[in-house]
Amino acid sequence: MNAIIVVNAYTRLPAELNQPERMQCELEKLGVHADIVRNRPSLRSERADFCVYFDKDKYAARALERNMRLFNRAEAVELCDDKMLTYLALEGFPMPETVSSLLCYSTPPEHDPLIGEAERLGYPVVVKENFGSLGRQVYLAHTREELETLHARLLAKPHLFQRFVKESAGRDLRVIVVGGKAVAAMERTSSGGDFRANLAGGGRGKRVTADGEGARLAEAVADRLGLDFCGVDLLFGEEGYLVCEVNSNAFFGGIEAVTGINVARAYAEHIVREMRENR
Ligand SMILES: Nc1ncnc2c1ncn2[C@@H]1O[C@H](COP(=O)(O)OP(=O)(O)O)[C@@H](O)[C@H]1O
Ligand SMILES: [Mg+2]
Repeated sequence: MNAIIVVNAYTRLPAELNQPERMQCELEKLGVHADIVRNRPSLRSERADFCVYFDKDKYAARALERNMRLFNRAEAVELCDDKMLTYLALEGFPMPETVSSLLCYSTPPEHDPLIGEAERLGYPVVVKENFGSLGRQVYLAHTREELETLHARLLAKPHLFQRFVKESAGRDLRVIVVGGKAVAAMERTSSGGDFRANLAGGGRGKRVTADGEGARLAEAVADRLGLDFCGVDLLFGEEGYLVCEVNSNAFFGGIEAVTGINVARAYAEHIVREMRENR
């Protein structure tokens, strides 16, 4: 079997290159030759048995999917990349109450009614850009002034307002699901009082067993979104876990270092099994 591993056209970060290289190595061990390629327009006519898609470009994903099986599928990548789309797709799952920003073509009125709706979630309120990662596009507004400033700054970008789950401040549970099964999990704790638990922001991970309620919830989320592989972030709510967000391109590095579990191998094995079963 021949495969391509697609990375973002402009990828430079070592962590972003570690991901495709780990995958290439694990696929090679299973007898699959895989080339790592940067996304480019001419790639859309490429042919291979399958593609491990580590980009988030939804246009290229749809085009490539005409020629070959994508891991993850284009629709699943698209649903995860946009946090508001994820929220809508997960209707019925336990999630913090969320209010969407509105598409704005012009200048909003001085007293934007959206602020009132966001305020009903209570202070502090979480503000997230719909597209973002590593905690970098996630903010906390403590007052109306902060909320209005953030909203004004993000006006041209899709964003959302979310109830702050205070019991989970600075803590979350990252669960990796491969082929419908939770294979690894870590509890993450932030450093320096940050409310965001991302490892990239200085958070620390602790290995926990990938079973129990959190694992079952993450597996159900992956199934609903049609994901072959993902990292599900869960918050510790007062009455149980709440789904925070879902990462179709979760990095292997952090979770492998914390848990010692070979996540890349689990994903490669799932892909090869899928390809053999569906030939
Ligand atoms: N509603 C919330 N209540 C409490 N903490 C939150 C909430 N949403 C996000 N967080 C914290 O912020 C972190 C980053 O948010 P997340 O939605 O996962 O965005 P990113 O894609 O940047 O990782 C989470 O891991 C969690 O620690
Ligand atoms: Mg996250």
